[in-house]
Amino acid sequence: MLARMSTEISAKTLTFLRRGQAVTLHDVAPDRTLLEVLREDLHCTGTKEGCGEGDCGACTVVLGEAVNGQLEYKAINSCIRLAHSVDGLAVWTVEDLANDNGELHPAQEAMVQCHGSQCGFCTPGFVMSLFGMYQNTGGGQGIDRAQAQADLSGNLCRCTGYRPILDAAQQMGALPLPAGCGVNEAATVAALQALPQHPADSAYMRPTALAELLQQRAAHPQAQVVAGCTDVGLWVTKMHKRFDRVLDVTAVHELRQVEQYPHHIAIGAAVTLTDAYAALVEERPQLQTFAQRFAGLPVRNSGTLGGNVANGSPIGDSMPMLIALGASVVLMRWDAKRRSIAHRELRLEDLYTGYRTNVMRPDELLAWIKVPRPTAGESFKAYKISKRFDDDISAVCLAIRTTVKDDVVQDVSIGAGGVAATPARARQTEAALRGQTWSTATVKAGIAALRAEFQPISDMRASAAYRQTVLGNLLQRYWLESQGLQHINLENLNAATLEALA
Ligand SMILES: Cc1cc2nc3c(=O)[nH]c(=O)nc-3n(C[C@H](O)[C@H](O)[C@H](O)COP(=O)(O)OP(=O)(O)OC[C@H]3O[C@@H](n4cnc5c(N)ncnc54)[C@H](O)[C@@H]3O)c2cc1C
Ligand code: FES
Ligand code: FES
Repeated sequence: MLARMSTEISAKTLTFLRRGQAVTLHDVAPDRTLLEVLREDLHCTGTKEGCGEGDCGACTVVLGEAVNGQLEYKAINSCIRLAHSVDGLAVWTVEDLANDNGELHPAQEAMVQCHGSQCGFCTPGFVMSLFGMYQNTGGGQGIDRAQAQADLSGNLCRCTGYRPILDAAQQMGALPLPAGCGVNEAATVAALQALPQHPADSAYMRPTALAELLQQRAAHPQAQVVAGCTDVGLWVTKMHKRFDRVLDVTAVHELRQVEQYPHHIAIGAAVTLTDAYAALVEERPQLQTFAQRFAGLPVRNSGTLGGNVANGSPIGDSMPMLIALGASVVLMRWDAKRRSIAHRELRLEDLYTGYRTNVMRPDELLAWIKVPRPTAGESFKAYKISKRFDDDISAVCLAIRTTVKDDVVQDVSIGAGGVAATPARARQTEAALRGQTWSTATVKAGIAALRAEFQPISDMRASAAYRQTVLGNLLQRYWLESQGLQHINLENLNAATLEALA
């Protein structure tokens, strides 16, 4: 739905960098998407609208940001990203890759040589995801099949088939880079630093400091809070919601950090899902597949862990995992009397009060997610059941953490998704397991408790009966894996293992 009118909603100026030049747009309403601005205002119609909801990747563009003097590249979905969020960043669309003589960038040339396009509608999106990979791998070096598949998981093609496109991902690094097709990183960083700063504005607020963010939250409690906009973007494109004021948390320096402490890591609410899951996988490598199954790369590059937690969807992936890990959340607000930041901390499961409702006050924001580090003897697994393996939302999610000593369950915590109105902790099941011998009989009792603990609903993703059955089956899988049967997990089947089997 590209032709939304910008009517009474107030507007402001935004500037971003394109092909090394500053592009300034005036009177852009706070709720216009980047795709709308690219296609309607800049007439860059190479970037396509397929689904308008972050699923197909046809609208993929690449953003560049100067971080500690280096350029960081991220492929994102422009259809659900608000235009003002790219103020101060570099933007590449499919029109920006070939040089002035029409010579193609290796990301494009590889698609041609590998016959990676038929109708072509998805092709600009694939090319931009390939360009993002090219820039992030020092010119497409060392990309194996598994990485190609993982990084292209947010792009759908309905006619070519994926083999030639995956071939292109692996071959682009061997192709010459024509003069004028490369990115001059030093010049781009310098140009980004020279972009004009626009005066603070109440239509689209994107502060860079935490205190300022919280003051704006207190002053404008009705403003729509956004982070990566991978949930909120759909309220705009699919539910046609309009926002006269937006408060964007993603530029706040403090909230973009991952901090390491002796007993926990603290993940700022504005850390992208890509970076947050990288930090979680570093602590617990067994989360690698689970992390890659959260949406596709462009969604993970925009979306934040804080957005996932604050949104509180009962079928969100992070919450069951974080609940099982014993995570807590830190909420912050501006205390005007003391002229300082006030905060409170609560267990994640206590954040939620009902379907997408939580205990946050109108002047509060989620600031940190604190995740305990692995402890000695801990075993932890997170399982996601969805209709598609890649880029799909969970029907059921179950995360289990146990500490078993001398064959006795000393400690257990279980988080579940897709089974109640909120992400939930399976306390009754925990009680059935805690202090018991870790045995078939105990697990059988645990399965019965788990199936009885929740009354899931039937919807388009799964029936209630399926959800209840699967819940128990996942605990059974956890038990079997704990006994050494790792290969019962189909998630171990990926591009690399399938190729090895062929
Ligand atoms: C194609 C697609 C696939 C997806 N796949 C998955 C999936 O596999 N698993 C899954 O769990 N989710 C999935 N999602 C949902 C979405 O990506 C996640 O919920 C994401 O983490 C939201 O983060 P965000 O930064 O984009 O939040 P936004 O959309 O910006 O915000 C979401 C909500 O959180 C609030 N909010 C954001 N930050 C804060 C803060 N700091 N304090 C208070 N409130 C805040 C906003 O006001 C809003 O209500 C998918 C979405 C799409 C479009
Ligand atoms: S148009 Fe489908 S992801 Fe944006
Ligand atoms: S080439 Fe037609 S959808 Fe991919």
